[in-house]
Amino acid sequence: MAPGRINLIGEHTDYNDGFVLPAAIDRSIVFGMNLNDGNIFRFYSIDYDEYFETKEISQRDYKFPWVSYLIGVLAQFQKEGISLKGIDCVFGGDIPIGSGLSSSAAIECGFATGLNELYKANIEKYQLTLMAQKAEHEYAGVLCGIMDQYASMFGRKDQVFKLDCRDHEHEYFPLDLEDHVIVLCDTRVKHKLADSAYNKRRQECDDGVRTLQEFDRSVIALRDADQTLMQKHKDSFDPLIFKRCMYVVKENQRVLKACKALKKKDFKTFGLLMYQSHEGLQRDYEVSCDELDVLVDLTREMDFVLGSRMMGGGFGGCTINLIEKSSLNNFTQLISKGYKESTGMSPNIYSVKIEDGAKAFG
Ligand code: GLA
Repeated sequence: MAPGRINLIGEHTDYNDGFVLPAAIDRSIVFGMNLNDGNIFRFYSIDYDEYFETKEISQRDYKFPWVSYLIGVLAQFQKEGISLKGIDCVFGGDIPIGSGLSSSAAIECGFATGLNELYKANIEKYQLTLMAQKAEHEYAGVLCGIMDQYASMFGRKDQVFKLDCRDHEHEYFPLDLEDHVIVLCDTRVKHKLADSAYNKRRQECDDGVRTLQEFDRSVIALRDADQTLMQKHKDSFDPLIFKRCMYVVKENQRVLKACKALKKKDFKTFGLLMYQSHEGLQRDYEVSCDELDVLVDLTREMDFVLGSRMMGGGFGGCTINLIEKSSLNNFTQLISKGYKESTGMSPNIYSVKIEDGAKAFG
């Protein structure tokens, strides 16, 4: 099994060698897997009630999109020199699909963890994480960073972790929110351009790095830039690229500040940083959407909400909110009513617990 994830702050920073603050949650994808006698791969998705079987893994596009994640993982095992025996695999779970809680990373990480056992491959968890990310790049075509797969594999019960996406060093600390809770509000939309826009943002960041490198060869990724360096060379940037890169530079700084605030239990500062993160994602990085903005804007009227922002890649999915525990019911009612009035839809509202990462049983 492998869980989905939340991210407290640090969005679109992972593929810029920056910092993120994720945790694995109590929603997961569970697999039943066994070797079969042949050399055939058989898969059944319980949630979609779809069956697929194949003997070859070279193709990229499959009848059902979920097949790409599984075949993508098998391909990585093959690249590691493991001989692929036939597999029967049934899977399903309770991570809402397309809601920005990384159900795809959970599929990749859960399947990789299961294969590692069945093939007796003895691949380290860290290597499995990189293989899961590769599966997403090569077979799903999304050039994602490492955050989702890392959280799904390395999550620890009741702890968040600050991950340095350059050297993958990570620091766990307890998420002790005292009288506050984290609540997710799901827009229940996923706009079509999400994947292509994601890859485009990556390119825009790379463009920005190339501009900075003309002046400073030590800049390898946006992680290496600060606001002063950016301002100094502002005129050399295309204005759109400048805006994108400035968001990343500021968001990285916010993660560091947010970690300090959280450790000091300064939830007010933490909440303000969440709102700032959303504004950057909305205006400068432009990966939010009307539905997400409605959800965040509704909270601005509620004095028991400390922070709110879109979470994950964007263009739909969830907002993450830090609220006073005693106002949970009030929050749920006001958000449901306000969202319905603005969009005609009812949001899903989830409270999540923080859990351990991927595991193999039996
Ligand atoms: C998606 C990607 C992650 C990360 C987030 C945005 O979830 O898979 O790697 O880039 O978007 O922070």
